[in-house]
Amino acid sequence: MSQTCDVVVLLSGTGSNLQALIDSTRTGDSPVRIAAVISNRSDAYGLQRARDAGIDTRSLDHKAFEGREAFDSALIELIDAFHPKLVVLAGFMRILSADFVRHYEGRLLNIHPSLLPKYKGMHTHQRALEASDSEHGCSVHFVTEELDGGPLVVQAVVPVESDDSAQTLAQRVHTQEHKIYPLAVRWFAEGRLILGEQGALLDGQLLAASGHLIRT
Ligand code: GRF
Repeated sequence: MSQTCDVVVLLSGTGSNLQALIDSTRTGDSPVRIAAVISNRSDAYGLQRARDAGIDTRSLDHKAFEGREAFDSALIELIDAFHPKLVVLAGFMRILSADFVRHYEGRLLNIHPSLLPKYKGMHTHQRALEASDSEHGCSVHFVTEELDGGPLVVQAVVPVESDDSAQTLAQRVHTQEHKIYPLAVRWFAEGRLILGEQGALLDGQLLAASGHLIRT
């Protein structure tokens, strides 16, 4: 068994992905330890989930800072006090500065509710419906300076049903998010997943442009 991998999770909202990560660490052999959960919103329900699980929490209000750089450098200080090997974005609704992204290069993961590179940004489920896509899904990727554009690690593909609304589609995607994020975090914690110069590597092999693909 490899050493424990300390992880800091950043979020702004309900934290169902955090919950999936917490649940995945409860198996006896998990190498992942969530050292802290940090939010830019003190009322984020994800913070309550963390407290319920006995995890340290912090909140840092971005509105109290002059600009993005000032907030991000305070955030770096807060995160680094926990000495994480990995930082996980789980619904953190802030665009991160280039300095922040560079500081955590190769140890910053995000989950996005679309099959990237399709539908970067917001309202992904509605956009997939409007395009009459037959498939949709979610992606875990390393974060780089390009928004929702870093090397892909894993994607889960779900069917779009003819009677789907944005809500029903979102639910189907969310269920898969809760599987692929813990999987990717575990790969990283086990030392199997790294960011190389050409892209994401799993067990020493360069992953395909789509990352590891899971069809449901
Ligand atoms: C998820 O849909 C994730 O893909 C996106 O933000 C949402 C967070 O959801 N980045 P939750 O707070 O984990 O429920």
